[in-house]
Amino acid sequence: MNNSISAPETKLFADAVLKGLSLKNRKLPSWLIFDSRGSEIFKQITELENYHPSRCELEIFNTHKATLSKIFSNSSNHLVELGSGDGDKTMILIEQLLSDGIELQYTPIDISKGAINNLINALNKKFPTSKLNATGLVADYFEGLATIEKAKKMVLFLGVTLNNMDIPDAKAFLKKLRGTLQTDDYLLMGFDLMKNPKLLHQSYNDELFEKFNLHLLDRINDMLGANFDKNLFVQQGHYNPHTHAVESFLYSTCKQTIHIESLDKSFDFAEWETMQTEQSYKYSIEDIKALALESGFKISENFYDCKNYFVDSLWQAAGN
Ligand SMILES: C[S@@+](CC[C@H](N)C(=O)[O-])C[C@H]1O[C@@H](n2cnc3c(N)ncnc32)[C@H](O)[C@@H]1O
Repeated sequence: MNNSISAPETKLFADAVLKGLSLKNRKLPSWLIFDSRGSEIFKQITELENYHPSRCELEIFNTHKATLSKIFSNSSNHLVELGSGDGDKTMILIEQLLSDGIELQYTPIDISKGAINNLINALNKKFPTSKLNATGLVADYFEGLATIEKAKKMVLFLGVTLNNMDIPDAKAFLKKLRGTLQTDDYLLMGFDLMKNPKLLHQSYNDELFEKFNLHLLDRINDMLGANFDKNLFVQQGHYNPHTHAVESFLYSTCKQTIHIESLDKSFDFAEWETMQTEQSYKYSIEDIKALALESGFKISENFYDCKNYFVDSLWQAAGN
């Protein structure tokens, strides 16, 4: 078992696994997949030809970096990033800010220690300047945010992290996030938009996606002493028009019983029984407008890629 994980994190992980595996339709949250190795595989996914969100968002940042730099410098000097991962889009913005002569504080927050270490090393190497003060926090979003002073800031929540949340969770998350911000603080958030379901199917069924989802089994084995055999599961992603999400499942290829030592519990899987391991909701622009309004924000501007596959939506915390 992995001894480097502190007890509260193990408990959080164990509770989520127990809850998810006890459901009639088994469903585990995708944040469980992210340790250093999970982040590494996800990074490889973002480089796939068929996986659009990362390329679209890179295009958006490259196209609109000067506008974003102006908005940032007119409003704040603290850039906070939730679930920063490798921070590749943010690097584009930071480069622009520095070349515009702007001094800034950058605080990436991520539960993956590997992701934060790699990002801080990459920043130090790429921008060896005292104009950038970067401090990484290995923490849950809100634990990290609680340690940050209440000064004017721009918060980034990029990639498809919000897409990965259930809609009620996304609403609750955004309301809670609004509570940590001051009126007029900015939030720049990535949304993968609804598109041709054939494209969605291609994106979520590459063999790297299978590797990524199967990594969850390694994590449960490692963290909780389970006996999952990755060779006895296969992954498939399906777009569900009723939930508006691409849902990824691990299918058990045979009848089997999994024992999880730390939970002192066994779980039976029938042949082809599924366990959902990921979902990615696909938003319309109307969904995004409604979400902003409901969670205490106003939309300031929307930045699209040239195919309108993805939007980075810039919100401002509305007054009470
Ligand atoms: C889908 S990746 C996106 C990474 C990056 N923002 C991008 O655009 O490529 C989600 C990131 O959020 C982090 N994460 C997930 N849940 C988190 C939580 N509760 N608190 C902090 N970070 C979290 C993961 O470790 C991962 O690096």
